[in-house]
Formats: sequence, C-alpha cells, structure tokens
Amino acid sequence: MSDIKIKITDREGVLHEVDAPTDMNMNLMELVRSYELAPEGTIGVCGGMAMCASCQCYVKSDHELPEKSYEEDAMLAEAFYVEDNSRLGCQIRIVEDLEGLEVELAPAEL
Ligand code: FES
Repeated sequence: MSDIKIKITDREGVLHEVDAPTDMNMNLMELVRSYELAPEGTIGVCGGMAMCASCQCYVKSDHELPEKSYEEDAMLAEAFYVEDNSRLGCQIRIVEDLEGLEVELAPAEL
C-alpha cells in the first residue's frame, strides 16, 4: 500500500490535502468523490468516460501528466470554464509520479 499526497482545492476555494492510494487503479475524479469534495451528482456524471467534463480541474503544479487523448481534448473543446491547464480528472490516473500534485476543481456546469 503506497499513498501519495495530493492537494485539491474544492469549488468553494477550500484546500484539502488528501492521501491518494496508487495501488487501487483510481483516477482523480474517483479520488475527489471518495473524499466527498464535491456534491454527489456534480462530478463524475459520465462515470469516467471523458464524456461530461463534470470532473474538469485545473492543474496548478508542474507535474508531467499523460498526454490528453483525442476524447479528452474533444470534450474540453466543448466544456465551459476551460483554461490552458484544464484536464479531465477521470483521465488522470493516480500514480506515484503525482506525489504533491495540486489541482483545483473547475466550477460546476450545472
Ligand atoms: S467523469 Fe465525465 S468526463 Fe470525467
């Protein structure tokens, strides 16, 4: 069992430093849900298929993340509040290299 620390600023601007397991095949959207950092129904709407953008977040640290897939790029092209550092949380897998990652949840679209 190996955990990393991730800093997540929620939609109210509150910073949470959470332990994230790297051995559970989790993604960032699932992590936010597991700590209930966003109300049920406002994140992870499509179940992690890169089809809703409810898991959009802004990456604040300069960690190297996997390239966006075509699906992620296409979804972000249609989403609201998109910035240069926007990513879909469900497409970011929790791995050891992300120790110290800092993200902020994008505003809910609903
Ligand atoms: S949960 Fe729908 S795009 Fe990430």
